[in-house]
Formats: sequence, C-alpha cells, structure tokens
Amino acid sequence: MSSAERWQTIAAQVRERIADGDTPVVVCSALSGVSDALERLAERCVSGTHASVLAELRTRHADHARALGLHEDPSAPWLADLERLALGASLIGEASPRLKARILSFGELALTALGAAWLREQGIDAAWVDARKCLTAADRPLATELRRYLGATVHHERDEALIATLSEAGAAVITQGFIARNNAGETVLLGRGGSDTSAAVFAARLGAKRCEIWTDVPGMFTANPRQVPAARLIRALAFDEAQEIASSGAKVLHPACIAPVRDAGIPLEIRCTPAPDLPRTRIGVATRDPSPGVKAISARTGITLVSLETVGMWQQVGFLADAFACFKRRGISVDLVSTSETNVTVSLDPKSNGVDRVTLDGLLADLSHLGEARVIGPCASITLVGQRIRAILHRLGPALELFEEHRIHLVTQAASDLNLTVVVDEAQEERLVQELHALLFDGRDAGPTFGPTWSTLFKDAPSTRSTPAPHEPWWYRRREELTAVAAAGTPVYVYDAGVVEDRAQAVLSIPHVQRALFALKANDHPELLKRLDALGMGFECVSPGELAHLFDTLPHLDPTRVLFTPNFARREDYEGGFQRGVHVNLDALHPLRSWPEVFSGKSVFVRLDPGRGRGHHEFVKTAGARSKFGISPEGLEELKTLTTEGAVSVIGLHAHAGSGIRTPEHWTEVAAFLCHIASQFPQVKHLDLGGGLGIPEKPEQSALDLGAVAVGLEAVRASYPQYELWLEPGRYLVAESGVLLARVTQLKQKGDVRYVGVDAGMHTLIRPALYGAWHEIVNLTRLNEPLVHLANVVGPICESGDVLGRKRLLPHTFEGDLIAVGTAGAYGRVMASTYNRRALPREVVIERGA
Ligand code: LLP
Repeated sequence: MSSAERWQTIAAQVRERIADGDTPVVVCSALSGVSDALERLAERCVSGTHASVLAELRTRHADHARALGLHEDPSAPWLADLERLALGASLIGEASPRLKARILSFGELALTALGAAWLREQGIDAAWVDARKCLTAADRPLATELRRYLGATVHHERDEALIATLSEAGAAVITQGFIARNNAGETVLLGRGGSDTSAAVFAARLGAKRCEIWTDVPGMFTANPRQVPAARLIRALAFDEAQEIASSGAKVLHPACIAPVRDAGIPLEIRCTPAPDLPRTRIGVATRDPSPGVKAISARTGITLVSLETVGMWQQVGFLADAFACFKRRGISVDLVSTSETNVTVSLDPKSNGVDRVTLDGLLADLSHLGEARVIGPCASITLVGQRIRAILHRLGPALELFEEHRIHLVTQAASDLNLTVVVDEAQEERLVQELHALLFDGRDAGPTFGPTWSTLFKDAPSTRSTPAPHEPWWYRRREELTAVAAAGTPVYVYDAGVVEDRAQAVLSIPHVQRALFALKANDHPELLKRLDALGMGFECVSPGELAHLFDTLPHLDPTRVLFTPNFARREDYEGGFQRGVHVNLDALHPLRSWPEVFSGKSVFVRLDPGRGRGHHEFVKTAGARSKFGISPEGLEELKTLTTEGAVSVIGLHAHAGSGIRTPEHWTEVAAFLCHIASQFPQVKHLDLGGGLGIPEKPEQSALDLGAVAVGLEAVRASYPQYELWLEPGRYLVAESGVLLARVTQLKQKGDVRYVGVDAGMHTLIRPALYGAWHEIVNLTRLNEPLVHLANVVGPICESGDVLGRKRLLPHTFEGDLIAVGTAGAYGRVMASTYNRRALPREVVIERGA
C-alpha cells in the first residue's frame, strides 16, 4: 500500500463489496520498508542513536499523507507516541522483546490511521479498528519471551461478539495486520509476514465469505517466476496443496495463513494490487481436481543435512528413537527424514533452527556414539507438490534423469502423498528447477488448473515493478542519476556514501564492541575512507601498500587506530609497520624465531587460528590446517617462550575465520576461544574477533542479525569484562553501497543459450568467476519492462569463465542498454585487473539519496 494508486484500487474494491451488501474488513500491513526501519529503531534506541530513524519514519508517513492529498497527517500522533516509547527505551538502555513488539506495531497503526482518513475523504464510511481489540494470542507459557511477543499464534475460532461489533462499526472496517494482544493486554506480533495470517484469522473469526490476499503478484505459480518466466499461474488449489507450496519455499503466501481459513472452510484468493483484473489463484473452492499430477515446483536454499551412517541400526529396536533423542536434547527441530538399513539422513529447517556450529558439533559428538555422523551443506530442497503424487511416480522418470550427474543427498515422499522432495547441492538448485519445470509443464495447455504463463501475463499488463519490493536496493530508485554517471563512461563502480555511513554507524553502535576497524582490502576509495574516519572507524591493513594508501589519504590519522596484519610477508614489511606506529599483528612464529630483533621490546597482536573456518566459499575460509593463516593452538607454548625471551608484550589476540558469515553466534564463539587463550597472556587487553560479517547475496537470504551478535558479545563481556572487544568488518560496510554499471555490447544466441555481452567482465568483477558468487543483474534502461528470457551475462575477456551471471531473467535487451550489477561495493574494484590489457573501471561516490 505504498502509493496513492494502490489505495485507489483498494477504495474501488471496498465500494464494490459494499454495493454487494457486504462489510469489507481491510487488514493492512505497514508501508514497505517501515517494519525494517522500526527494527533498526528498536536496536538503535538502546544506544540513543535512533533520532535519524525516527526522522526517516516521520518523513515516509508525511510524504505518504501528502501523496494521498490529506491536509492533516493522521499518523502524526502515532509517531509522537513512538518517539516517547523510543525515548523510554533509550533511557532504560534496553529493548526487550515486549518493548520491541510495541515499537514494531507502529508501522501498521500509523498506515491504517492514514488509510482510514483517506477512505473517509473518498466518501466511504470506514471505521478504524484496533486489531489488538479483536485478536488474542494463545497462551504459551513454555515458549521463550521472544516467541511470545514477536512470533505469537492467535486464536482463530468464530467470534459472534466480534462479528456484531464490526458489523456495526461502519460500512467498511480498516484494521492492522501483524499485531494482536495477549491475555495481559500487551501488544504481540505474529512474526514477519504476519499480515496474511492476520487477514486469515480475521476471516475465520468473522465467518467471512472470502479472504482475499492483495499482493504484488496475482497468485501462486508453478515455479518461482523470477527463475522460470514460463511458470504458469495456478488457478485452483486445495488448501493442503497451497499449504505445501507455501511451506516448501514459495513466498507469495505465509504458510501460517492457510490453517485458519481451512478450518473455517473459507475460500482464499490471491489478488494482484497493481493489476486487479488479472486472473487469480483460488484456494479451497471446489478445487479437488481428481486427476493426480504435479501442480508446482518449489525450492528452498540454506538447508543443512545431518547424515548418520551405521550398520548398527539393522534390526535394532529403538535405534531411531536414540538418534532422534540426540536432536531433541540439542533443541534442534528436524524437517525431512529419510532412512535406509544403514543410513538416516535428516534436514534441519533453516527457518525454525538457526543452528549454530557449537550446537551442531555437540549433536555430531552425541550421534557419533551411534554411528558415523556428518554434516552436509549448503543444500537446497526441490519439492514437487501435487495431490496423489505417488500415482504419477512412473511419469517422473524423465524428470528424475536430470539428477543423473548430481548427487541427491536425500529423497522423501510425504506420507500425505502431497510432495516429493529431493535435496541437492545448493549450487544446482536454480538450474534443476528450470529444467524440471520445462519437462513437467512446457507445452501444457491452459485449463481449469493452469492459467497463463508469467511472461504472457506481464508482457502487456501493467508492470509489477512500479513499487519497489522491500528487498530492492537503493539503486533501483536512483536510476536517473546512475544513467548520468554512466554517460561519462562504463564500466563504472558507483557507491552511495550514505549506505556506507549507515552500515558503519550500525557496527559502531554495537554495545560491547569497543573498537571497529574497516578492512580496507574490501574497498579503498579515498572518499569512503575519509567518511569512515570521520565517524570514528579504525582501519585494518594487510600490506605496506594499503598502509601507504591509508596514510596518504588520511595524513593525520592516529596510527594506534590501525591494525596491520600481514601474512607470509617480508621482514621489512613488519619493520615498516613499527615505524608507522600502527599495531602489528603477527600471524606466524617464523618472524619471532628468525628476526627476534625486529620485535624485541615491542607490543604486538597475535593472530590465532580458531580451528574452524566459515564463509561463503572455500577460498575465503581462513582457519583450520588447510588455511595458511594464524598460529594454531599447538604453537602457543613456543609463542610464550619466544615472546618472553624477546621481551615482546602480547597486548592483543586476534582471529579471523572467514568472510561472508551470516551466523551471529560466530563472533561469540571466536570471542570465547580468544578469552580462553588470553588467560595465558597477562598483558592482553584487546580481543579482535575479525571481520567476516556477511550480507545477503540473494534476495531470499536473510541479513546478518547485528542485534543477535550484540547479545552474544554482551554475554562474553559479562564474563570477561577485562578485555576490549574489536571487530574488523570489510564487506558489511561497503558491499551493498556499490553497484557496477556496464553497457551492453553485443547479443548472441547459440542453440538454446542466449548471451548478453557487456563491457565489464571478470577483469572488472572477478567474484562470479572466482567464487561462483551471485550478484543481482538488472537491465537499468528497461527496469519496468517485463522479464522475458534467461540469458548468460558475459564480458569481453578471452576465457570461458568470463561470466557475470548465468541464466538471468532479463527483459528484451538491446545494444547500448545499461546493465547494473548489485552488491558490488566490496571486493569489486579492488580485485579488478588489466587482464587482456583492458582498462580498469572508473569509480564514483555519490551522496546519500533522498
Ligand atoms: N580481517 C582479516 C584479517 C581479513 O583477512 C579480512 C578479509 C577481513 C578482516 C574482512 O573480512 P570481511 O568483513 O570483508 O568479510 N575476496 C573475497 C573476500 C576475501 C576476504 C579476505 N579477508 C570476496 O570477494 O568474497
């Protein structure tokens, strides 16, 4: 509901329902991006740094009121309340789940206040109703506080009193999704995406004729249309099928919204707000299509498997019970299971678990008493959904042949006979979905079950792109500026300085982190270094060249704000570090053994190997015997001897285990490891927990929860208050600030593969070629045009690996179009080369956007 146009659509629908003699109840979520901002507000008010977020929220709502032509802004009193609440939280210095629930409820409260006022100005008798007076959370005394306040489940039984109240409230009712109250009358939330659930619960409690979910797409498709433009709209589904599709990966509906309407027997429809006249998906209305068949293919990534191999389970009573008891003991919920005589493999649901490495290790240790246990991942599950799938297994033969060259880690066929799931390596997911879809759905005629394809629906229909989805990056909105920058030459990296500053602020305000250093290997643009310096960031350098560049850029920088961590470096590199007065970080014993005079009488940091590497790719994991970094614990005794002999003070310990980590527990584990060792070095004051803070690469990945990092570090500080904690992120500060712009050079079709050539390649951005990294690729010139085909986006370098993205969904694309490659601010330009004697890309920093 982020534009006046969308409100017009809703007003028209409301009028129609009233004319039909019904009382429509409009359940509304917050403006897009507002719930995220409120989350940030809740995090920041603890440190009293929330003023800018409050200002942002005020502007968003005031702008929206203006766009709707309202003279007064009815959301203002709600924002005033929010300000008081945030002030309270900042005075107490903490935001409990209870307070967080109240803070997050303001998005819906404020927008419905606006919406109600506007509907009334349109002459509709719309009553504003507080959802907290209508929906009550079920008591779950055993659930954690977090779940009780932020992920509550609400009762959905029919409620005659509520029916009576709402029918008399007005000709129409507008109320909030996502929020409810508990038995104590406090505000609770239904979990992110909870507005669908609220609508379904309202429908059930009111005994509604129908529940309509108005969203950006017209319904459920046979596959994710972002991956498969030939995906077909599914016109009709049974409740259980819809539930299965929603739970196995599709994002259109929140899985929790099916049960209330199913129990009450109320049909559910998905409707497209940008294009209300498109065909839709109807769920639960006479949809028991008797013929068995696959209705959809859905996929989920980020899956971890645990496999237990043993001959011991054959004919042994209670073996599985013992194995599952291990999961129960560790509090891990299991999703899929497959067993044979010698193996049990289970998948862990990424959403409900968030299992950390320590818990997994504990689980493996427990399971090792029963057999050989190991973890497999990252994997993806691909699910074929449809009723009576068993009856058509024989027809799936050709589809299953696709898996011939790929290892299938696990296959399950649900007892409900509704799904068949295979788990494969995550990297195979996209390709397999596309190929399976072609085999199972191409050439099928549209009929009562399957409607038009996504690409035909959106070829002539209004674009679904006019409202940016919440995950859409800043550069979608700044297309004109970027086009102007690109006019002066491509390829060019463009960085939004505001994004870098916001990320730096977020890290600097993590409580219990005394110092943050920016790892400038990720991006060393002088302007960005200056901005970070101004905010109080320190810096982490790994070479004399980086040190020279840093001090050339910031001649007055206090050298004690810099940590220098060379690896397999020359003797003179260390000497150079001491001459500059920066902290020198030793990551091997060789320098102390062979050049003791360089270190004698000096204070140093020591980089330790925490034993387990983490990160988005093998090449960026920097721990364990196979990694060349750090001193392993067996070297500690010699380290003590060498430092004592040479009168070297170890004032800091350091560990950096890898890059692109989105598991918040990681830094707590590293801190625990360093604290344990620090007791052996009495002069240690600082513990540097390294960088590695990851960002979501793909839209479906979740962001790293800095709040959870903070909670872990708080616990460390409570036990070890004598140590200062440092962090040294690179990617986190800059990755999402950057976009790479390139111009389309040529187009080519070979067999069924389409190529879009651009003037950037592996010499400009090597991450896809080196790590198989995924960067969003968009045709900026045609941002609002329908996405019609898959293409490989390639550069001009003479190597077959010169690919920026494979099978990307693009609109009709032409020579000269401007292509944008996302999340390119980290390890982009700094890793560029002049291979093939191609020029280095330009770099431009732009100011914060409106
Ligand atoms: N500290 C040390 C000692 C490091 O080696 C690194 C990165 C960092 C901090 C910063 O890590 P970050 O927060 O950016 O993850 N080229 C790869 C990343 C290599 C990271 C090298 N070391 C990529 O493009 O993904």
